[in-house]
Amino acid sequence: MKNLIEDIEVMSPASGEASEAVRLTEETNTGKSRKLYIESYGCQMNFSDSEIVASILQKEGFDTTSDISQADVVFLNTCSIREKAEQTVRNRLQHIQGFKKKKPEMMVGILGCMAERLKTKLLEEEKIVDLVAGPDAYRDLPKLVAQVDDGDKAVNTFLSREETYGDITPVRLDSNGISAFISIMRGCDNMCSFCVVPFTRGRERSRDPHSIIAEAKDLFSRGYREVTLLGQNVDSYKWSEEENNKARLEKTSANGIVNFANLLELVALVHPDLRIRFSTSHPKDITDEVLHVMAKYENICKYIHLPVQSGNSRILELMNRGYTREWYLNKVNRIKTILGEGCGISSDMISGFCSETEAEHEETLSLMDIVKYDYAYMFSYSERPGTPAAKKYPDDIPNDIKTRRLEEIISKQRAHSYIRYQQDVGLVQRVLIEGQSRRSENHWQGRTSANRVVVFAKETKQKGEYVNVLIESCTSGTLRGKIVD
Ligand code: SAH
Ligand code: SF4
Ligand code: F3S
Repeated sequence: MKNLIEDIEVMSPASGEASEAVRLTEETNTGKSRKLYIESYGCQMNFSDSEIVASILQKEGFDTTSDISQADVVFLNTCSIREKAEQTVRNRLQHIQGFKKKKPEMMVGILGCMAERLKTKLLEEEKIVDLVAGPDAYRDLPKLVAQVDDGDKAVNTFLSREETYGDITPVRLDSNGISAFISIMRGCDNMCSFCVVPFTRGRERSRDPHSIIAEAKDLFSRGYREVTLLGQNVDSYKWSEEENNKARLEKTSANGIVNFANLLELVALVHPDLRIRFSTSHPKDITDEVLHVMAKYENICKYIHLPVQSGNSRILELMNRGYTREWYLNKVNRIKTILGEGCGISSDMISGFCSETEAEHEETLSLMDIVKYDYAYMFSYSERPGTPAAKKYPDDIPNDIKTRRLEEIISKQRAHSYIRYQQDVGLVQRVLIEGQSRRSENHWQGRTSANRVVVFAKETKQKGEYVNVLIESCTSGTLRGKIVD
């Protein structure tokens, strides 16, 4: 994916595939005997899972390293969302071959969605791979590693209906010490026709809210000031107190169900200085109740990632998204009514889905004109084997047309990002300082509640503090301003 915003300093996709792998930068060195190197591809769920993997292996005598040549075990936590994502991993394996030549005892494992999709086929196709573990098999990793130590290949791609890793405290990798992800659910039951996730991640299940709140409290006490609650469809979060025989939480719906709005409120109550974000919202499931909870708490960020995929109702139907263009636009209106025009909204878009006509593509562009997203992650359709779309509809839009439509979407989005960012110029925004600007050591970088990146002179402020910043200028990806506290 080409990055839409050229000038942006931080761009971490809320969902979808990152343009590059994230290598861990945090090293743990507790004198353990073996070293684990782990690289994550794909969405934030995968990055969050890598932190669980590191935690599981730490207990088994592994320290983490950011230097692959030092590693005894190399894991790639992979993504299957588009063909390109899988190709990137295969190219990376070629490269890793070079390290393995120098250090033949180095173990190479494939984790995540590609492991789940290809299973034992991966061992046949990529000779360098010793271990294959799907997203629900990470508790089994110590055993799988031992199997490889004994000279065998090891595979576990069992998908669970219950696993949430709720009791495992993640080792924070690649962290700025201020923002962290908390996984609140796993899997997806939606079956959007283009999407491989229901096959690679299995059935949807929600994590015990008590463990989510405990994790948020622990992060806050360790200096973190922002948590992002993660799930493929957070609005369908659902946990029953009765079924799980647990004490009543402070915020619960009448029937003993903790829904997403309840959970959001519970996490918001952890501390007013802990910012809450979440991703991804599904347009068919986001409720007014969620929007009202967002409005009630200042520390719940006014930003919603609400992927539309297409602006045309016939294509949305083929995609099995469960909403029409009108339904989606109505949701956007509810957001603007309840949270105000300043609320950030972003999207995902797919160009050239099966049988998409020129007029239908134009409807995606016209929907963008109406909503004016802050930004968007934009892709051309990539057929995934085994998905409902691959079975039912021919992938019949030629690549050059998919690409041209994608470029039109990208260029429109760039113009809209600029318009949205410009609306903040002249305003004072509350910003959480996340770290140093990449371009200047005299500047801090942070984000507004609406998720817009702000760069400003440091003065005497520190990372993790909140500051009021007068926005003085902008590009389509960065606001610039000065502290006015
Ligand atoms: N759960 C999220 C998104 C998960 S995947 C949601 O429901 O929106 C992230 C994004 O990748 C999707 O929103 C979609 O835009 C894109 N995507 C998924 N499958 C794709 C495919 N086969 N080809 C192109 N883009 C795809
Ligand atoms: Fe895929 Fe749809 Fe589930 Fe998102 S909601 S992960 S696009 S099936
Ligand atoms: Fe995420 Fe890619 Fe899997 S987007 S859920 S890592 S297919």
